[in-house]
Amino acid sequence: MNSLVRLTKDNDIAVITIDNPPVNALSPGVPEGISEAIQQVNNDPSVRAAVIIGGGRTFVAGADIREFGKMTSGKRRGAGLLPLLLSIEDCSKPVVMAIHGTAFGGGLELAMAGHYRVASPDAQVGQPEVKLGLIPGAAGTQRLPRLAGVARALEMCSDGKPVGAAEALRIGIVDRLIEGDLLAGATTFAREVVGRPAPKTRERSAKLGTAAESAAAIAAARESVRKKQRGLQAPLAAIDAVEAATKLPFDEGCRVEQKLFTECLFSDQSKALIHVFFGDREVAKVPDIPKETAILPVRSVAVVGSGTMGGGIAMVFANAGIPVLLKEVDQPALDQGLAKIRKNYVSSVQRGRFTQQFVDERLALITPTFNYDKFGEVDMVVEAVFEGMALKKQVFQELDRACKRGAILASNTSTLSIDEIAGVTSRPESVIGTHFFSPANVMRLLEIVRGKKTSKEVIATCMQLSKKLGKVGVLVGNCRGFVGNRMFGPYRREAQFLVEEGAEVEAVDNALVAFGMAMGPLATGDLAGLDVGWRIRKEYRHLDKPGVRQPIVEDRLCEMGRYGQKTLAGWYRYDEDRRAVPDPEVTALVRKWAAEAGISQRQISTSEIVDRCLFALVNEGARILEEGYALRAVDIDIIYLNGYGFPPYRGGPMWYADTVGLKKVYDRICEFREQHGELWEPAPLLKRLAEANQTFAQSTRDQGNT
Ligand code: NAI
Repeated sequence: MNSLVRLTKDNDIAVITIDNPPVNALSPGVPEGISEAIQQVNNDPSVRAAVIIGGGRTFVAGADIREFGKMTSGKRRGAGLLPLLLSIEDCSKPVVMAIHGTAFGGGLELAMAGHYRVASPDAQVGQPEVKLGLIPGAAGTQRLPRLAGVARALEMCSDGKPVGAAEALRIGIVDRLIEGDLLAGATTFAREVVGRPAPKTRERSAKLGTAAESAAAIAAARESVRKKQRGLQAPLAAIDAVEAATKLPFDEGCRVEQKLFTECLFSDQSKALIHVFFGDREVAKVPDIPKETAILPVRSVAVVGSGTMGGGIAMVFANAGIPVLLKEVDQPALDQGLAKIRKNYVSSVQRGRFTQQFVDERLALITPTFNYDKFGEVDMVVEAVFEGMALKKQVFQELDRACKRGAILASNTSTLSIDEIAGVTSRPESVIGTHFFSPANVMRLLEIVRGKKTSKEVIATCMQLSKKLGKVGVLVGNCRGFVGNRMFGPYRREAQFLVEEGAEVEAVDNALVAFGMAMGPLATGDLAGLDVGWRIRKEYRHLDKPGVRQPIVEDRLCEMGRYGQKTLAGWYRYDEDRRAVPDPEVTALVRKWAAEAGISQRQISTSEIVDRCLFALVNEGARILEEGYALRAVDIDIIYLNGYGFPPYRGGPMWYADTVGLKKVYDRICEFREQHGELWEPAPLLKRLAEANQTFAQSTRDQGNT
């Protein structure tokens, strides 16, 4: 046996313990160790049954995800669990799988190869491979329908959601729940089944039914995937594999599963989703901020302003159990803010997300105020007043006077310089940007903006706090628009140019939705309010370069009072339920304004729409990366996935560009430069990488940042 698997004996019961902390992943060595132990069980006449159990806090939480990358890059051959699972099933003595913690992916596949399964009441089982763009690859799609029935197997393999132990017992995955000591219970169970014929899962057929009986469930599962998991290939492949179980003998079904698994493993979608999986963890690491950096306590906070953002931010803190002082200027503004918070909570209760008791407790954590009297007590303040430098400066001077030394002073500004704001205080090291996204209580992204003087402790605290708040914190530098909005500018600019050049509003949005974006860029403008950008543009007009083309339509729509959804008219017209309807008036106006501006009209293909919008995004991303405002390409990806509705199966904009090939992206951008002028100047980093035949991911690795 190797060090990852231990074989001990409790009289006549062999106990095989998998010991590969932290989660007993099926890394190389683990299957081999189990296989050897099973052989010994077969050969040892004093052993009458075996229990397989996980050491530490869990059974087997799944495959070792790093192994997938090694398989696709040819560094390792397939995991090859299938023969091991057959040998367990063919063991001459009953094998009882004892599950605590989680049995996910390969873990559940391993468990299903046992003759029996017992579980702790709080254990969970599942086939979450689809979340990585994969399907079960060790007969999970063949054994699960034999245990749980076709309908549940379809669901579990295609949505990837975990199933609790009680439910697993009810549907037949687990044979008994064990309260108290799992190993003792499993050993007792093993003694009970000694001498009885041990059921092999692969030979069970009672729950499989006939192919004809399953056809309706399979069709319904495909339909549900197309609706709920738009664009994803793996859930459909998982359904195909389960369907094979209903039509073919076990061995042939396994071959179908293998083929589908391999296709998924080598797909761009799976590579992208695995990139995202590691990216989520990667962004927490900041090269110049060591792990040991002191974390400041954040036991209570204050939020200044209870508008769209302030109210949501107050909820975020309250939801995490942190008391919040909420400051407003007058009673009507406060009443409005609190009413919106209550309305949000009421709908959370109605949707079953929170209980009434939870909501009552959260509301009790929010204390309204009109002054700074109690600000001296809080550990952190998040300012969310109107966007305007003069007002922000005034508020930060007031905070500087009111707050204790060491308190974190954060601004939620989306466009203003954190350094300029910090400059009016006597403690710029305590000032930082915490850029939440709207609606703040829903969106997962938190851009954490590092000012020139922000201290490492303040940064480390905010990064850690983001986790406590249920957010993905990504550290960015202090440039205009920071990372997300700075890139969103050119993206939306191109969407507007395309309409001016002859594309229909809907065609632009539909092309990007078909690409996988949660929403089209023009509909997004209507949702956020076209007036927001209009106000900002008016403030910064003096910075526009003369002679460089600017979008013309949104300013004029705003001048007509068409601010988007809030006025029931923007790029689209909206009915009372806020459903968008294309507006022929907008099309006619755009044609007229374009003609006046001398912009000629033409047919525009879907691929041009996608390339122009996305490559504008990528080109700006490359600039940001080179200028150092994002730490790594993956940070930009994580920002877009969590804040801008970018489809995870494309891995984020920078990963997408890597997938297309930077040479191709660069060439296309050069074409656009020819056609549309200097706005399309390729980013120097993109040019260099394209010429060196490299990727953004590589370039970041080479800098030693990962
Ligand atoms: P808002 O207009 O909805 O709310 C601002 C609130 O601040 C108002 O209720 C106002 O009464 C209050 N206020 C003004 N001066 C104050 C003072 N001295 N003390 C206390 N309260 C004061 O604005 P919104 O949209 O919530 O924006 C707030 C900040 O968040 C801005 O910096 C904005 O750029 C940023 N932001 C906005 C996003 C959005 O989607 N609306 C997204 C991300 C950031």
